[in-house]
Amino acid sequence: MAILKILKENDTGLRLHSREVSEITPRILRLLDDMKETMRDADGCGLAAPQVGVLRRVVVMETEPGKMLELINPVIKKAEGEQCEIEGCLSLPGKSGKVKRPAHVIVEALDRNGKLCRYDGYELNARCFCHEIDHLDGILYSDKAIEMYKNTDND
Ligand code: NI
Repeated sequence: MAILKILKENDTGLRLHSREVSEITPRILRLLDDMKETMRDADGCGLAAPQVGVLRRVVVMETEPGKMLELINPVIKKAEGEQCEIEGCLSLPGKSGKVKRPAHVIVEALDRNGKLCRYDGYELNARCFCHEIDHLDGILYSDKAIEMYKNTDND
């Protein structure tokens, strides 16, 4: 496994559309593993492939320690309700922002074995699913934020 470089806010790579994964190759599995290691190293709870310069629809999430999700071609099938909470992003260090998101989402994605899985996300999980899937379409949370903040600590 390897720790990959995370692209930062003004890198145009973050603004591009990521392609669907048509076949889960060893290369995709390696990408998942490297992304997990990179996310943990950076102390994040979500990471999307375009953030490490790979334009494929691949996401990893760990909103609870030890509960790692690997999402290939994730799609939001249902979104309902509303929440407005603070988000951050490994590509925008030192910043955070208040973003309006659905309170609950249902997401479908393939796992590393190619099995279609369905996830119910509430609260932080709903925000994280939406935030990471936005990355796959070149959207940053700062595009949607109602207010942006500069963090005083450097996370
Ligand atoms: Ni992000």
